[in-house]
Amino acid sequence: MKKTVVWEKKHLLGIEELSKEEIILLLDQAESFKEVVKRAIPKVPPLRGKTIVNLFCEPSTRTRTSFELAAKRLSADTVSVATSSSSFLKGETLKDTARNLEAMNIDMIIIRHSCAGAPKFLSECVNASVVNAGDGSHEHPTQALLDVFTLREKLKKIEGLKVSIIGDIEHSRVARSNIWALTKLGAKVTVCGPRTMMPAGIEKMGVKVTCDVNEALEGADAINVLRIQLERQKQQLFPSTREYVRNFGITKDRLKKHAKKDILILHPGPINRDVELSQDAADGEYSVILEQVTNGVAVRMAVLFLLSTTRQIIEQAQKE
Ligand code: CP
Repeated sequence: MKKTVVWEKKHLLGIEELSKEEIILLLDQAESFKEVVKRAIPKVPPLRGKTIVNLFCEPSTRTRTSFELAAKRLSADTVSVATSSSSFLKGETLKDTARNLEAMNIDMIIIRHSCAGAPKFLSECVNASVVNAGDGSHEHPTQALLDVFTLREKLKKIEGLKVSIIGDIEHSRVARSNIWALTKLGAKVTVCGPRTMMPAGIEKMGVKVTCDVNEALEGADAINVLRIQLERQKQQLFPSTREYVRNFGITKDRLKKHAKKDILILHPGPINRDVELSQDAADGEYSVILEQVTNGVAVRMAVLFLLSTTRQIIEQAQKE
């Protein structure tokens, strides 16, 4: 018999803390919001009167825009704090910043930060719900949710799928969140990249590890190709870009030789074109990269909606 799951979380800090049932609940909720975003007037009222703050302390195009659109589609009021022109530059702490924002009667804070654990820290300082939009090399939960949503939509299941995550595994919060999500949902996950970008003990997360990209492609239903994160590398971890491309670059030619004909290609963006992924593979018929971006709005609507529902229950209980 199917287990009925009720969303009870006030924050979304990572996929690690979610059960399989909670992930499925989020995906199912996102599916119903996907229908909303396709409407001529893509707006519904559940977050009317709520205020959501985007606090991005690192650059972002997709995630920040997607969260802002998701909030607006749910009729919430949104505010973006540009850290480059905020009082962070005068030395104000993250805690003080958040508590001052909260003094303006906000309901949720969406935070991206270069430090792993910053969203959890914030969730302990404020009463608002906190959503992790990427923290250091730790987690990027909504990216993983939109990735599995896209896989489920295209391939009709996750259980039993073979998914290879290829690239800079060590520095990738996307890899970590995807591994949690995919393994919880029953996919078989392989991680592949240069040995210098492979975290020690990663196999304990239930994944197969290889440094041979052709082996990672063999039999895979989908690949998630990661960006080389030069901004997080403290030293050069591969001899040259040309060598990385030769050994790990995903090209149409390599796919033709080693992959299933209809392998799906995912990438969280932004793409280093012709480094981890060639132009023709990124824009080819099996690339779902832009569909991932489209799905991100529905997935983030689901996250905001479910967190808001829990907040309303907590607030109601506090009144009684
Ligand atoms: N995938 C992703 O996080 O992209 P942005 O950095 O543009 O938000």
